Amino acid sequence: MSTTEQDLQHATTLLSKLQATDAKALENDSAARHELLQLSRNLTAALENPVDRATDLVFKPYTTVAARIAVDLNLFQHICDHVDGITSQKLAELTGADEVLITRILRLLAATAHLSESSTNTWTANPTTHALASPPVAAGHRFVYDILVTAALRTPTYLHESHYIAPTAPTDGLIQYAHQTKLPIFDYLATKPSLLADFNLFMGHTLGARSAWHDWYDVEGRILNGFSGGDLVVDVGGGKGHDLAALWATHGQHAAWPSSARLVLQDLPQVLSAIPPSMLPAPITLTPYDFFTPQPVRGARVYLLHHILHDWADSYCHTILTHLREAMAPGYSKLLIHELVLPDEGASELQARFDLVMMTFNGGMERTRGQWRGLLEGAGFCKVRFWEGDDGGDGLVEAEVVGRGETVEKETETEIGV
Ligand SMILES: C[S@@+](CC[C@H](N)C(=O)[O-])C[C@H]1O[C@@H](n2cnc3c(N)ncnc32)[C@H](O)[C@@H]1O
Repeated sequence: MSTTEQDLQHATTLLSKLQATDAKALENDSAARHELLQLSRNLTAALENPVDRATDLVFKPYTTVAARIAVDLNLFQHICDHVDGITSQKLAELTGADEVLITRILRLLAATAHLSESSTNTWTANPTTHALASPPVAAGHRFVYDILVTAALRTPTYLHESHYIAPTAPTDGLIQYAHQTKLPIFDYLATKPSLLADFNLFMGHTLGARSAWHDWYDVEGRILNGFSGGDLVVDVGGGKGHDLAALWATHGQHAAWPSSARLVLQDLPQVLSAIPPSMLPAPITLTPYDFFTPQPVRGARVYLLHHILHDWADSYCHTILTHLREAMAPGYSKLLIHELVLPDEGASELQARFDLVMMTFNGGMERTRGQWRGLLEGAGFCKVRFWEGDDGGDGLVEAEVVGRGETVEKETETEIGV
């Protein structure tokens, strides 16, 4: 089987579309960049020989393996430190690793454009190499490889034994199967301090540099206007507080920001106790909290769940949402869920992959609009609205609660945003 004439014609059409793009206009247009990226992926798929494409997929994991080894040897950082390039020989001296082994690892990463090969066995950094050298991304490689990929490799056997029923229970899923533990993932991580530290450092970077909700949601119009003082945002399961710190950095200095507004960071005690006291800005207060118990902060303006519900199957989400609903003030409090919102068809590679990552992690899943709506309405929420960023990253689902005896009016079903 080879590339058909139709494929090549398709490739030519895509190529003309790519050529017609104004490169300058792309600099500040993330939507256009995103669209173009998709076109270029389609172009690659159309140009590749189908058998080569199918066969190459078999070997794809080796790129991840090479990156994981490079992280252990700190190769990305060493390469970044040498602006004129560094040889395998010098890297061998710096790391104590075998020179030939270093070349074998780095040439794959150069072939995949994660670094550049400036001359024979000499390596220089490109922008991706700098990103790979950053501590959160290096932490992500360690955590994802050692905990998730290890479990993902066991998925075919697990699913065969479970008669192809996807795992949903946090005590009996892929992590427990692969790592031979009975502990749920967050308790298991607590027994592995360095991987827990990697996990917490990586959080906030899982979707790369894609934008956050407060970059495109009308914070002033929908939250600050009508704020009656006290607790402005409660970040439930907020990890090390990076989302609240980013919200504060973007909006905290604006005139519209109420000086009395409190930002509350909630997470498990072992996560909060690892945050250095001086790391977070003053308006953020820390409250250890288990989201399977009643929510202690009542009547806040916003309860934020970022990458929480995708960790859990529906029945667990229902419990988390019920505790929030009971704490929320009808007609005032808003629930904001910052997560991927999958299209009913044509999900991107990132969206589809994350869904499987969540299945591995804790029997969780990524959800479509219909699934989000079903989950929220089933837990007693109304006025469910959707926003989606234009760079393929997380969207935002907003919901409110009805007061006792109130009914949800027809107009509350409206969806807005793009
Ligand atoms: C995937 S991380 C998301 C962190 C952060 N919101 C973000 O988007 O980067 C999930 C978070 O939920 C926290 N978590 C897990 N179980 C929890 C529980 N029962 N109560 C409170 N937080 C919990 C974890 O410690 C972790 O910080």
